[in-house]
Amino acid sequence: MRLVVTNMNLGLWAAAYIKEKINDFQPTSEKPFVLGLPTGGTVVDMYANLRLFYKEGLVDFQNVVTFNMDEYAGLPPDHPQSYHSYMRRHLFDEVNLRPENTHILNGLATDPQAECDAFEAQIAKLGGIDLFVGGVGQNGHIAFNEPGAAFNTRTRLVELTPDTRQANARFFNNDQSRVPATALSVGIGTVTDAKEVLFLASGEKKAKAVARLMQEGQDLKWPLTALKLHPKATLLADPQACSLLTGTPRQTLDRLMSEQPNEAHWTLETEEA
Ligand code: GLP
Repeated sequence: MRLVVTNMNLGLWAAAYIKEKINDFQPTSEKPFVLGLPTGGTVVDMYANLRLFYKEGLVDFQNVVTFNMDEYAGLPPDHPQSYHSYMRRHLFDEVNLRPENTHILNGLATDPQAECDAFEAQIAKLGGIDLFVGGVGQNGHIAFNEPGAAFNTRTRLVELTPDTRQANARFFNNDQSRVPATALSVGIGTVTDAKEVLFLASGEKKAKAVARLMQEGQDLKWPLTALKLHPKATLLADPQACSLLTGTPRQTLDRLMSEQPNEAHWTLETEEA
């Protein structure tokens, strides 16, 4: 995998990357581009840029199929903080994605495991996800796979840690008790099965997770480190999210940034996959 560090707006960088991937793929209705999508504060700018690219005619979502990573259990789709609402606000209502081509887990499913199994089956039927885009939790979670989740997990009902509920309380009037305690989430295996993954980490709150990622090996306590097993994975980060890097990655990044100060981004490869 590679770490790409940029001073540019991460959302613009990621949206431009997604646009290129879709355009290069030349999707058709028989062979659509399958895109895994995240929610959260980090990717708000990414969606703003995707909407802009769409309005400018630079990208077309007609033959794009989307799968969202997760949804809070117990929140109706029209709850303002459900990920259904988030996606409508930030993307679905503004671009030409066909409603039948968008997939979000139903947080109200009476049989959550059946809901999760059907979601996996829909992904498989399309031949897998071409690009899975994600954010990173402060504790290193990916989707809602909290520390300790096995790297081969599939879509399922999960419990959120107090840390995650606290981090997301800002979307629920700063009241942690209002943040659902469980969610439906793709598994780490669902993410790493994608043909390509792009994760975004911005700000100092993500620095511990990024630092652990760039140390040797994988670590079940830091789900983000599962990305190192993927041959085509990118973590896109700003310098603040890299503020706790140590050892060789720190030295390499400092050297690249001082030798090529005007580059749009700097790339560090990890020795694993
Ligand atoms: C939630 C989502 C994660 C996301 C995380 C980061 O917990 N389930 O998929 O990565 O938020 O959120 P933010 O970008 O707001 O820091």
